[in-house]
Amino acid sequence: MLKNLLAATAFVALPAGAVLAQDAAGDPEAGENVFRKCQACHMVGEDAQNRVGPSLNGVIGRTAGTLEDFNYSDAMVAKGEEGLVWSAETLMPYLENPREYVSGTKMSFAGLRKEEERADVIAYLQQFSEGGGS
Ligand code: HEC
Repeated sequence: MLKNLLAATAFVALPAGAVLAQDAAGDPEAGENVFRKCQACHMVGEDAQNRVGPSLNGVIGRTAGTLEDFNYSDAMVAKGEEGLVWSAETLMPYLENPREYVSGTKMSFAGLRKEEERADVIAYLQQFSEGGGS
């Protein structure tokens, strides 16, 4: 509890750019819990299908906005065409503030404020991406 409080304080005190600590390796088990926040819209794992959002199987290494059969926003498709590929490095800022990172995205999700939650859910998603990604 106190630890969380301290972590939250430290987070607020950091400038945005400093949040990308290099060795912030996530915990996939904790990430499974975090993924509940995504489940209203996303599926992952066996038989995952597109729902409100695209299936997240293989998302690490995917060029943004390129899953067939999913109707992305023009903004997401344009990002992919500009060369955005999902990795731990690009998912960190996207999941913190989707609408800032991809202005015009139709993912209406406020974002995960805690760096740890983002790292954990990315580690969880890596389990469903070929080669684990990084
Ligand atoms: C309210 C529904 C909703 C929630 C909640 C949500 N998403 Fe999304 N997500 C979407 C939609 C819709 C898109 C497609 C965005 C677009 O086309 O602009 C998307 C796109 C994405 C993409 C890009 C995929 C691609 O193929 O380019 C990733 C990665 C992603 N979401 C991860 C997450 C994660 C992780 C969470 C939970 C922390 C989450 N989303 C929560 C609706 C949601």
